[in-house]
Amino acid sequence: MNRQQLQNFLRTTDPEALELLWLTADGMRRCEVGDAIHLRGLCEISSICSRRCLYCGLRADRQIKRDRMSMSEILRAAEKAVELGYGTIVLQAGEDPALSREWVAQVIELIKDSTDLAITLSLGEQSNETLREWRDAGADRYLLRFETSNPELYRRIHPDSKKGRNRLDQLWAMHEMGYQVGSGFMIGVPGQTENDLVNDLLALPRLPLKMIGIGPYLPHPETPLGQHPELYLAPPEDQVVATPLLVWKVIALARLQVPKANIPATTALAVLDEQEGRKLALQRGANVVMPNITPAAQRSLYDIYPSKGRAEAAEQTSDAMTTFDDQLKRDIASIGRTVGTGRGDALWSWKEN
Ligand code: 5AD
Repeated sequence: MNRQQLQNFLRTTDPEALELLWLTADGMRRCEVGDAIHLRGLCEISSICSRRCLYCGLRADRQIKRDRMSMSEILRAAEKAVELGYGTIVLQAGEDPALSREWVAQVIELIKDSTDLAITLSLGEQSNETLREWRDAGADRYLLRFETSNPELYRRIHPDSKKGRNRLDQLWAMHEMGYQVGSGFMIGVPGQTENDLVNDLLALPRLPLKMIGIGPYLPHPETPLGQHPELYLAPPEDQVVATPLLVWKVIALARLQVPKANIPATTALAVLDEQEGRKLALQRGANVVMPNITPAAQRSLYDIYPSKGRAEAAEQTSDAMTTFDDQLKRDIASIGRTVGTGRGDALWSWKEN
């Protein structure tokens, strides 16, 4: 889709145009990736982070309780994922210096030895040497959002970005190493304009992506962006505001931009609209959900953004996890879809396109 078409869809409130967008995205999703919804067990292995991203509640200078899961806790979570029938475990964390190359490689090997799970890593910016070692240990996929395609905005919200290497370089390097690569961006970051959002969508098909994660920016009151948005906001007529409608539009447009990608209905969207967020995303282009399988103790500390659910999640037990899983599977059936079996790998080889 060209710039003008993307812009038109982002702006429209015309019910017929919207209906056309939903039907096209849903039809494209059905043709290209089918009716199965793949479930990925998200395991938040460490809430320790050395970076100071302006939007993120895990930023280094917050004095909060943080924790790292032990190897055996991670293995138990992997068993839980298998028990629930998930084909993938996603290991996510802040950039925790103690998650060493060797330690993570060993975790990957142990999960691979004891399960058939696909392993997705979401461990932030890493050197090529480290990424190669984790790939050799058996990691299948890697998620690293580019967050925004506007380099100036990117630098403003990531005060300690490393010089020289940027996230786009890392995405390409990981693709070369044989990872299935995922990326994406946030919607509504203070300072983000509609033009930026169009550029974010235009960037998607130019990157070697098999997975695309897009969610609303949710202000965290204990971060610089959450505390003082006025210092960062674009002029009111330009500033993107994340409404559920806008997020659904962007997910639908992402499906049209990269037809064969695996696209999750993200948790942040489910937080923004607890009633309909996830379900409508799945009917407007998305085909993946990432249920949280992190044990209660660590999960309550993984405070990226505020969410009502998180308070309750502190009491999450293995039983509560199963209840959530049951409900999710009922929701999937209620919209005429099936639960994916197997690993749910992306079908599409980027190079072949
Ligand atoms: N609101 C929404 N998403 C956030 N992330 C981090 N902080 C926030 C926030 N305040 C997202 C980033 C990151 C992913 C793991 O979580 O896009 O890549």
